Amino acid sequence: MADTMRPAWATINLQALRHNISVIRERAGGRRILGILKANAYGHGLIRIAQVLAGIDAIGVARVDEALQLRNAGISGPIVLLEGFFSPEQIPVLAASGIQPVIHNVHQLTQLEQAKNLSDPLQVWLKIDTGMHRLGVEPEEVESCYKRLVAMPHVTGLPILMSHLACADEPKHEQNRKQLATFAEVTAEHPKENTSIANSAALLAAVGPEYDWVRPGLSLYGVSPFSGKTGRDHHLQAVMNLQASVISIRRIKAGEPVGYGASWAPGKDTYIGIVAIGYGDGYPRHAPEGTPVWVRGKCYPMVGRVAMDMITIDLGAELTINLGDTAQLWGTELPVEEVAAAVGTIPYELLCNVARRVQLDYLD
Ligand SMILES: Cc1ncc(COP(=O)(O)O)c(C=O)c1O
Repeated sequence: MADTMRPAWATINLQALRHNISVIRERAGGRRILGILKANAYGHGLIRIAQVLAGIDAIGVARVDEALQLRNAGISGPIVLLEGFFSPEQIPVLAASGIQPVIHNVHQLTQLEQAKNLSDPLQVWLKIDTGMHRLGVEPEEVESCYKRLVAMPHVTGLPILMSHLACADEPKHEQNRKQLATFAEVTAEHPKENTSIANSAALLAAVGPEYDWVRPGLSLYGVSPFSGKTGRDHHLQAVMNLQASVISIRRIKAGEPVGYGASWAPGKDTYIGIVAIGYGDGYPRHAPEGTPVWVRGKCYPMVGRVAMDMITIDLGAELTINLGDTAQLWGTELPVEEVAAAVGTIPYELLCNVARRVQLDYLD
């Protein structure tokens, strides 16, 4: 037991990822797939996930350094830079590496216009603000931006028109109808194969099904974007199992406080388990008492405060687990959606925050 004890690690199940890709392909029904791998593939490890996605139509990341990491690792397929370049100096780098920028404001457009001596022409995406009011050109600017892009000698092919929905995770929300109506208007004269609107939620709820290029992120990793649902409800499989060893089991008397701040004490004599994971690993510091932790077929409540390297779980009066057992913080036995709900956050945040010191073990 002792020599197999490890601190925190995450197993990344690539079979589950392949399964999810096939579910997404089916849902996409022939539309092209831009798999979203930003933030280290939502904490799952950029390169290994990209290698499994090699057969899909394109990969989307948020930062130039992520795109270059992919190229340096030999990923040769199309890569889309979702927020485009942040300075004109990045434009030649994108051209030389065949990275496709999203143009989302007129400032970027002018910088691209002024770019000279690019080694290769660029495929570009044009982002339209249909109502989220974060990134994107105004609907009335679309045609003039589009014409300027098409006229640039270093832009190849037709720009792909894209937009992002603010409320796709609430499919009946009025905002979706408004944004879709605006998108329909501005794309009316453009080929459908050059349009893109759906993230995971829109894809799974069939919002905007007529537009090509779906952009799934969360669903690739087997997680549901909808409140109250889990990936299983969509026949998806969790890719990440975040785990840690139970490194100590103690008997604690009623009323004896446990952990920082002496914030929790059992009402009656109990066993506690100390699990080797904490906020230094990305486990949420604000996880409240009662947040579930799974060990040996059962969920136990987290008690006391989350520390940098440890959490405590209340095992009750009858001990049914052993020192060295593996606890699951989220994964196949305990959906990350349920943990996120208990913590008052979203699964995206939990997955992205898994710290670098957590070893990723890939199961092929
Ligand atoms: C522009 C864009 N498209 C698609 C996605 C993927 O969204 P999801 O992970 O909800 O599928 C994101 C993620 O935030 C995004 O920013």
